Amino acid sequence: MTLKVAILAAGQGTRMRSRLPKVLHTIANKPLLQWVLQAAQGLQPEETFVIYGYQGEQVKTAFAGQKVTWVAQTEQLGTGHALQQVLPLLKDKSQVLVLLGDTPLISTTTLQRLLTSTDKDEVGLVTALVEEPTGLGRILRNKNDAVVGIVEEKDATADEKLIDEINTGIMLFPAKKLKAWLAQLKNNNTQNEYYLTDVIALAVADSINIKTVQPEFNEEIIGVNDRTQLAELESIYQAQAAEFLMQQGVTLRDPSRFDLRGELKAEQDVTIDINVIIEGKVTIGRDTNIGANVQLKNVVIGEGVTILPNCILEDSIVGNACIIGPFARLRPGTELADYVKIGNFVETKKTIVDSYSKLPHHAYVGDAEIGKNVNIGAGVITCNYDGVDKHKTIIGDNAFIGTDSQLIAPVKIGKGAYIAAGSSINKDAPADKLTVARAKQKTIENWQRPKKKKD
Ligand code: UD1
Ligand code: CA
Repeated sequence: MTLKVAILAAGQGTRMRSRLPKVLHTIANKPLLQWVLQAAQGLQPEETFVIYGYQGEQVKTAFAGQKVTWVAQTEQLGTGHALQQVLPLLKDKSQVLVLLGDTPLISTTTLQRLLTSTDKDEVGLVTALVEEPTGLGRILRNKNDAVVGIVEEKDATADEKLIDEINTGIMLFPAKKLKAWLAQLKNNNTQNEYYLTDVIALAVADSINIKTVQPEFNEEIIGVNDRTQLAELESIYQAQAAEFLMQQGVTLRDPSRFDLRGELKAEQDVTIDINVIIEGKVTIGRDTNIGANVQLKNVVIGEGVTILPNCILEDSIVGNACIIGPFARLRPGTELADYVKIGNFVETKKTIVDSYSKLPHHAYVGDAEIGKNVNIGAGVITCNYDGVDKHKTIIGDNAFIGTDSQLIAPVKIGKGAYIAAGSSINKDAPADKLTVARAKQKTIENWQRPKKKKD
């Protein structure tokens, strides 16, 4: 018996009121479908089918390169009809696990539990006891507590609506029998759809055992049908992520004002202030403090670093004991060695800064290599772009670049060179010398202030 996974993802998601297919909406920046695929991959199935439909090309493009067999459902006639599309591709000797593309937080653990407790020729269902079952399919049981069917909310009687055990949509079938049951589905219900849920009663009629398991956490089985539910799931996920980090020894000043939209590896005694957003892959070393309103995307930050509020760091590396911000922007390709100081309103891009160098305020440094113990004054600009190409600025150890200087690249500043304030440097400046490149100051002795004419 081999395991096949079928993810139903063809629906338009009308209630989202969106031009984007529902499964491309995101939780923590990751499409809903990606979450489901990941949970499935944890089971190492032989093959994963994704049934796509509404704006399917967009879905396929978003998942290009992933190990998925795409199956088109050209008309969305219901969940049963969606699964029918996979049948020609199914070997009789397999088990089919059905997942919903709009139920992103389902865990591999829960799915594994379903696989373990359902025999190969039985049907397995993940069901849940919920306080608010409105809108969901209800599990019907007989006097002996055996499952006999599922009724959709829209078709349920008043009594059935009182049932608090719901269908999560996650089901496991033996392929051969599934084929026979799907062939018998009818759409004579309030929505005129071919319901996958009707398969359960057909299986019962065939004397098949229906096994049920509950999810490890009820949050796992919440589906996204509208933007309110999308926001709910986002905050559930964020609360879990925050809890996990705190258990690892990270202080979150307010766990409800922290957003993880990627992966964060943080060592012990990292402190993260409010409204910090983490994207991509981020690593933070021990004893580092991240100030309020900081965005970190694909960065590696060393130990004992202080990032003051309102900084944006992207695709950069920050060494140990650096001080950054407030209001600094480290753009891609910035690499800071240890003990570097980047002050307020400083922007860096493709720039390597060696240890103990300081850029304390108001500067733009791009395509540059800065040696050790360099001081870059306020208002210094590397003119790295001539309108066509980018050029490099190289600054040697212990150099001092006076305030408001422009370094017109390509240009080299020697070790220990001293550039006078207000210089426009377009030729290499020699080591250990003072270079001045600005108009000489003069005073006009008999100058008179112009007078206003009377009219
Ligand atoms: C479905 C279940 C309901 C369950 C709930 C759990 C049915 C009939 N109902 O209801 O019992 O409690 O999920 O969240 O199965 N889809 C297709 N093709 C279609 C229709 C839907 O691929 O023709 C996909 C959708 O993209 C979605 C999933 O199937 O990912 C579920 O469809 P949806 O319309 O959201 O079903 P619910 O009304 O939520
Ligand atoms: Ca749904």
